[in-house]
Amino acid sequence: SKKHKVTIVGSGNWGTTMAKIVAENVRSHPSLFEETVQMWVYEEEVTIDPKSRHYDPKSPLCQGPQKLSELVNTLHENIKYLPNIALPDNVVGNPSLEDAVQDSSVLVFVIPHQFIGRICDRLKGKIMPYARGISCIKGVDVSDKGIRLFCEAIGHQLGIYCGALSGANIATEIAQGKYSETTVAYDPPPIDSRGPSPTESPRDSQVDLISPSKEPGRRSAKLSALPIDYPPLSHENVKKLFHRPYFHVRMVSDVAGVSLGGALKNVVALAAGFTDGLGWGDNAKAAVMRVGLLEMVKFGRCFFGETAKPETFTEESCGMADVVTSCMGGRNFRCAKMAIERGQSVYEVEQAELNGQKLQGTSTAYEVHSFLKNEGMVDEFPLFTAVYDILEGKAKPEQIPDLIEPRD
Ligand code: NAD
Ligand code: 13P
Ligand code: CA
Repeated sequence: SKKHKVTIVGSGNWGTTMAKIVAENVRSHPSLFEETVQMWVYEEEVTIDPKSRHYDPKSPLCQGPQKLSELVNTLHENIKYLPNIALPDNVVGNPSLEDAVQDSSVLVFVIPHQFIGRICDRLKGKIMPYARGISCIKGVDVSDKGIRLFCEAIGHQLGIYCGALSGANIATEIAQGKYSETTVAYDPPPIDSRGPSPTESPRDSQVDLISPSKEPGRRSAKLSALPIDYPPLSHENVKKLFHRPYFHVRMVSDVAGVSLGGALKNVVALAAGFTDGLGWGDNAKAAVMRVGLLEMVKFGRCFFGETAKPETFTEESCGMADVVTSCMGGRNFRCAKMAIERGQSVYEVEQAELNGQKLQGTSTAYEVHSFLKNEGMVDEFPLFTAVYDILEGKAKPEQIPDLIEPRD
């Protein structure tokens, strides 16, 4: 019988870490997964620093800028986005998106959210029709039509089922093998648990893919069944792809709760960075985290109704735990803090400090704000609104205590 071929779509800080985790796991489960894990690399030229442990003046790799994909495959390390972490040699960096996804039945999407729409446009028609996706992207897809989760957006654009992985997961710690938990939501329609019978026509083996968001126009997409000769992508088998001794997976069905937790906590982390940047203490940060978590739960209830469960935010890694870790050491937190300390914009700090890594909180704050404004709900989410106003220069971080005080 067949094995699942897995492709990681992305190779940034978290993308490369996910490739490492998955590549270790496919070797632990050789009856389920093919050994080679493709990792799509958005190609760029990178120069090995003379201070790097990889520097050797005689090596051809050190004669000027080199393609990042070639450095990944030669050094078995992503020296730009995940330096000093050895990658298993079954991770293959591939600069061709179309080639990287060819014949893959499992696609793990891990790129900054601003790029995923264009990537899906390129992937349309290039993937296996019965492929399944997992989105590790933290953000929400806002347009004039409303709001969608990225796993929904990917699923609809590509006509596949796509679940979500999100948790209190600062990539570098996990890449170093330090213990962490995560939450995986994987809840495809029942078609996947049986596979098509040999007598069924391909049409019979398609079911409607139901969207968790409220938007009626976006509900209908057809899902092709996974052929019967593949191992089923049950919760048990999906867990085997991600669970490691240092990376504990809890499987749930609440795709909306998992996705919203990871997206909205980035806005909360900016607020925590602002108060820290003022030199305020841990009590201030805790206040921001408390109000932020409440707004996250409320956002789920208001706009994703029954599908986003409050318990997902309070009980799983993708909720409160991610708020905590992100407000202590995440990039959004750190850059927001430096912005206040230096009197720069968060964008200027991102450009100066992150070496090409991307913040998700700043654009999410704008996207959430534009959605809330359309819904006439700006005043119902005072912390999210305060972060937007501070980024826009319309409010000062010193005003956060008054801005988040409930009004009667
Ligand atoms: P990153 O912040 O390291 O971003 C850099 C990546 O973006 C690089 O791979 C770069 O090649 C790519 N890129 C730049 N321009 C591009 C373009 N035009 N098209 C396509 N790709 C382009 O990325 P990351 O840390 O892997 O984050 C990806 C997602 O994972 C984000 O949504 C993030 O919130 C989420 N996430 C990150 C972490 C973390 O600790 N880094 C943890 C959990 C979740
Ligand atoms: P940052 O993008 O702010 O670093 O957050 C990483 C993360 O998602 C931790 O769970
Ligand atoms: Ca501290």
